[in-house]
Amino acid sequence: MTQKWRQDSTFLALIEDLLALEEVQSLANFRHHYYTNRLAHSLSVSYRSYCWAKRFKLDCRAIARAGLLHDLFFYYPQDYPQLVGGIGHLKNHPRIALENALKLVELNDLEQDIILKHMFGCTWTLPKYPESYIVTLMDKQCAIYEVVGASIGQGLLSIKRLILKQDKTLA
Ligand SMILES: [Fe+2]
Ligand SMILES: [Fe+2]
Repeated sequence: MTQKWRQDSTFLALIEDLLALEEVQSLANFRHHYYTNRLAHSLSVSYRSYCWAKRFKLDCRAIARAGLLHDLFFYYPQDYPQLVGGIGHLKNHPRIALENALKLVELNDLEQDIILKHMFGCTWTLPKYPESYIVTLMDKQCAIYEVVGASIGQGLLSIKRLILKQDKTLA
């Protein structure tokens, strides 16, 4: 995941109240995309989306906050009760995340749309705002980085271990 958000005080000021919430912090307890945790993933999506919003002069506050809350659910997909080949969770978790977020903070229409439509492609209701398109794209980009990046890292580590083992055998 990107760590640049830690040094960006403007970004941090936009999300610090949310980041302090126990419910948001608890996302760190859930493994996400196999190699990371749900809080780290949410922060990556939030920060990458925020950077694009800044570049395009969009609503940086809404995108940072809704990006952080987009996966605010507290279960593992495999435990989801209506799971049918993974689709139940994929389709429903944006609505669940929005319901959970609304229990914690007020969200305007833009922020709600960002959370609700972040699985666009799997769900077919069109996002209403450019910010929502950015978050759904960044969510997918982060997921790819998290899974592929970590897999490459694991692969390189295995190769390194193999080389070290061979070196020891030859010594
Ligand atoms: Fe999601
Ligand atoms: Fe996500």
